[in-house]
Amino acid sequence: MKKPEILFLKQEDVVAAGLLDMKMVLDVVEETCLGLSGGCVINPPKIKLGLPDNENWTSFFMSMPAYVKGNTPVAGFKWAAESKRNATVPGMPYGVDVVTLSDPDTVYPKAIMDGTLITAMRTSAMAGVMAKRMARKNSSTVCLVGAGVIGRTMIMAMNEVLPELKEILLRDLNEAKAEDLASEFRGKIGKVNVVPSRDLEESVRKSDVVVTETTSRTPFLKRAWLKDNATVIQMSSYEIEDDVLLGADRVAVDNWEQLSRGAGTLVKKLADEGKLKREDVAEIHELVSGEKPGRRGDDELTVSCLHGVGAIDVAVANRIYEMATEKGIGQRLVLWDNPLWV
Ligand SMILES: NC(=O)c1ccc[n+]([C@@H]2O[C@H](COP(=O)([O-])OP(=O)(O)OC[C@H]3O[C@@H](n4cnc5c(N)ncnc54)[C@H](O)[C@@H]3O)[C@@H](O)[C@H]2O)c1
Repeated sequence: MKKPEILFLKQEDVVAAGLLDMKMVLDVVEETCLGLSGGCVINPPKIKLGLPDNENWTSFFMSMPAYVKGNTPVAGFKWAAESKRNATVPGMPYGVDVVTLSDPDTVYPKAIMDGTLITAMRTSAMAGVMAKRMARKNSSTVCLVGAGVIGRTMIMAMNEVLPELKEILLRDLNEAKAEDLASEFRGKIGKVNVVPSRDLEESVRKSDVVVTETTSRTPFLKRAWLKDNATVIQMSSYEIEDDVLLGADRVAVDNWEQLSRGAGTLVKKLADEGKLKREDVAEIHELVSGEKPGRRGDDELTVSCLHGVGAIDVAVANRIYEMATEKGIGQRLVLWDNPLWV
């Protein structure tokens, strides 16, 4: 009888397998979004365990299960966690994630891997896929708010998807962090200039696309600062004021069911108040499959809210599993030698 063999991939293995290739991750996101539309992907809403509770958490865990048919069908889940305390300790990531993959038929686990960088790459790739449909094709200036882990991968994603991009204005409350990240990318991404910003309002006023990826618990992005045909992409739950979303010509989300139920999200607040309905928004898979249009002209204000979809983590992790297996990377573990009581 075959033993359940698990490929264990630590973060260094996941990187060696090829995760930091943003083009590859963007492709997996597009394919998985198509699968969501075509019924080849099953993605139940994630479950959140906030400590001490979901409104006032200082740390939380989320279980994000999914089935992805793809070339090699896989079932799996990401166990995603964030800690406010970590954000205050140098060297500790704010988010720490693990992905588990299983064979959908035998239900044997086949891989356990670090999911922290998978989250970082796929999160910004989702924003990239959204920007391709919601931003003006000639967008040349992007303001990124938040120069942390997601800020870093967001530079990579925006550089891939916006063909006319010339300047990224990088804003963080911690200005030294924005300066360090900007200098790390200087001269490394073609003609795109990454510039640290000292003034959020001024940077937003200049920008065609504004992406927020901060740990802020209070809204800071104002409608009055935005160009009338700007694109806003909110990656966290609390960053944009209500009228940014309510004033949009086009609204898109990654998963309506999840966002409209998610404690503390702006989408839930506006849905509860009856100001935003399912029919008012497009989901990302509907944009990718063409079921719904993204931006319909150069004069629209478009707003997207992304909260994270487990199927994307499982699909990216499955691709990493395949690439690691091909390259002979990782450590093999067995779950049992002889199972008892079967
Ligand atoms: N949508 C998704 O799928 C998804 C996935 C992962 C993370 N996230 C969210 O993205 C956010 C960033 O995550 P991270 O791992 O990059 O965190 P991080 O701690 O590495 O970086 C966050 C940065 O935001 C900055 N910041 C906080 N408040 C700010 C403000 N008002 N203005 C400007 N900068 C501010 C901090 O100084 C910090 O540098 C978190 O809220 C996280 O929950 C979303």
